[in-house]
Amino acid sequence: MSNIDALKQEIVETVQAANNIKSLEDIKTQALGKKGKVTSMMKMLGSMSPEERKEMGKALNILKNEIAKEIDIKAKELKEKEINKRLEEEKIDVTLSVRPEEKGYIHPISQTIEEMIDIFAEMGFTVAEGPEIEDDFHNFTALNFPPEHPARQMHDTFYLPPDPNKQGSDASLLLRTHTSTTQIHVMQNTKPPIRIIVPGRTFRSDYDMTHTPMFHQLEGLVIDKTSHMGHLKHCLIDFCKNFFGVEDLPVRFRPSYFPFTEPSAEMDIGCSHRDGKLTIGAGDGWMEILGCGMVHPNVLKNCGIDPDEYQGFAFGMGIERAAMLKYAIPDLRTFFETDIRWLRHYGFGPVEQPNNAFRS
Ligand code: PHE
Repeated sequence: MSNIDALKQEIVETVQAANNIKSLEDIKTQALGKKGKVTSMMKMLGSMSPEERKEMGKALNILKNEIAKEIDIKAKELKEKEINKRLEEEKIDVTLSVRPEEKGYIHPISQTIEEMIDIFAEMGFTVAEGPEIEDDFHNFTALNFPPEHPARQMHDTFYLPPDPNKQGSDASLLLRTHTSTTQIHVMQNTKPPIRIIVPGRTFRSDYDMTHTPMFHQLEGLVIDKTSHMGHLKHCLIDFCKNFFGVEDLPVRFRPSYFPFTEPSAEMDIGCSHRDGKLTIGAGDGWMEILGCGMVHPNVLKNCGIDPDEYQGFAFGMGIERAAMLKYAIPDLRTFFETDIRWLRHYGFGPVEQPNNAFRS
């Protein structure tokens, strides 16, 4: 009997000392397995007298059950410990809003708008905004587009479904085809002098390498008593030099036509193409960058401003186009594909400053 007690004590002690599931399993095999200590004592029963066998058999069964119970208790305890340890080690704080490994990027359009605002702000311009859904008056009529003029069709306008309660050109709202609409809102509501820029979305029904149905423009408007074509030229030349970071940037103004400016011009900047790469600066080529002109007296009249007292200039440029030239982005459509790899390549860090040079 006493060696059964001794064996029990020995096994229970090793069970209690086990510090992981694996060593507990080994202990179990050594005690209760086929070649285990308790099993080999069981095997000795055959050589005993019936009385001894009865007594010893009972005691060994009790021993076996007691050891199995101890092992079960220990196994539960160790499993719980292991789970708690894993919970502690593999803890994730799901309330964290920013994962350090995921960096956000500023879209080149946002960056370019910031850069443009930065330059014009130093010249004393403020930023104005206007609606993207417009009426015929603000998009065309007030801007001196004659009724039925082909320029209305040239803009490939997106019209909203007509309002059955309205007549003629008032019946259809539209998505603005240019930011010049905001010139009208501002002139209707502000007494000159006016010096604003308007960055914003514009819409035309067109889609290829160089056109998307939604794109951005930056409009500029200056109205006072003395501004003339010389101011227009200096302002835009200074802007382009700063924006592209090229101090000796060649520029030229070509006569052009817009119903809302007279005279009108398009501005080109110098560039060169070498090995399929476009470089802005002195070279043998020209790139169109913007449209501009002196505000047409009819436009001033349409907004309640006396053209005998006030005059000024306006300009408008495509923001994607300017960004493509500055940052060598080859395809306009990629701006709106929301491809994270593209954004990682062409995007900007959240704390980067506008990237301009030669500010005067
Ligand atoms: N609104 C013109 C366009 O979309 C650009 C422009 C603006 C031209 C202001 C002259 C003056 O093409």
